[in-house]
Amino acid sequence: MKIAVFSSKAYDREYLEKHCDSGVVMSFFDTRLSPDTAVMAQGFEVVCCFVNDDLGEATIKALKKRGIKLIALRCAGFNNLDLPAAQLAGITVCRVPAYSPHSVAEHALALLLSLNRNIHRAFNRVRENDYALNGLLGFDLYQKKVAVIGTGKIGSTFARIMTGLGCEVIACDPRPDAGLIKQGIAYVTLEHIWQQADIISLHCPLQPDTFHMVNQQTVSKMKPGVALINTSRGGLIDTKAAISGLKSGHIGYLGLDVYEEEADLFFEDKSNVLLQDDVFARLLTFPNVLITGHQGFFTKEALTGIARTTMANIRAFAADDFAAMHLVGE
Ligand code: NAI
Repeated sequence: MKIAVFSSKAYDREYLEKHCDSGVVMSFFDTRLSPDTAVMAQGFEVVCCFVNDDLGEATIKALKKRGIKLIALRCAGFNNLDLPAAQLAGITVCRVPAYSPHSVAEHALALLLSLNRNIHRAFNRVRENDYALNGLLGFDLYQKKVAVIGTGKIGSTFARIMTGLGCEVIACDPRPDAGLIKQGIAYVTLEHIWQQADIISLHCPLQPDTFHMVNQQTVSKMKPGVALINTSRGGLIDTKAAISGLKSGHIGYLGLDVYEEEADLFFEDKSNVLLQDDVFARLLTFPNVLITGHQGFFTKEALTGIARTTMANIRAFAADDFAAMHLVGE
């Protein structure tokens, strides 16, 4: 089986090769998959893709033309995929639905704690021999009301972590988690969350009904000074609305591991390139905004889980054992 691995970095190569079966040949391309680069899939049976590969209709058609039979996503989210187009093309799509939910949940906590205690600013001050505490005043997380939107694998892990810190956790999910309810976590409406939460962490998938769930209207309903954390997908937040909320002081803290226009920025060293995205540039000017470049998944444990499941999916596909695959759309 020949696999073209798109958007691949040295760490992808290291972990995928470690878990690769004999008989599987992988070629690693750092290029992002798109209608223009799909030509590189010629001669392969499988493309292995990541979060910012373009798997829209035009790419799917181009992949079909080149005889691709399987798209093996090495991530959980699949908002970058046109599933009906893949189904129409007869291309199977699988993903990695679960790999260390702790990696992302702990990263959400890291963003929150850094912002809340101004660790990112303190780090720079101390390096400048500046030990003044002015402007670094934080607040206790203890007994704060933390809202978790989406209590699947990652959100429920985050909810448990925050319970452990002594926070009052509330949640919203169309499919409530019985275990969390047993622990005393109350499921409430989004309206309730916007109005009551001190801290809001987004863990639901990006889909038509969640696109820009944080917008001008919902921000205006939030508690002044709210801390907003997004480690899920950038499109959940209307970034311009978030900027207005930050400028007015309504949003007190914003921690982002994802950004709606991240595809042209993240995972690359752009330190020698002029930043063209004015919205992102504005975000970077706020002292109470902390952004990481989609690294929530980036732990040894998560990369091992991703490589293992990706290879198991491909192995099952080669054996026509679809029941053993984590298929998208099921
Ligand atoms: P999951 O599928 O286990 O959980 C998602 C939960 O969201 C489900 O319980 C679902 O019922 C709920 N949900 C769906 N629509 C909702 C709505 N309108 N309002 C509230 N809840 C809703 O997914 P998992 O593994 O927990 O991942 C969550 C998200 O985290 C993924 O969609 C992905 O976009 C993101 N992610 C980010 C990573 C990173 O590196 N920053 C890595 C992995 C995932």
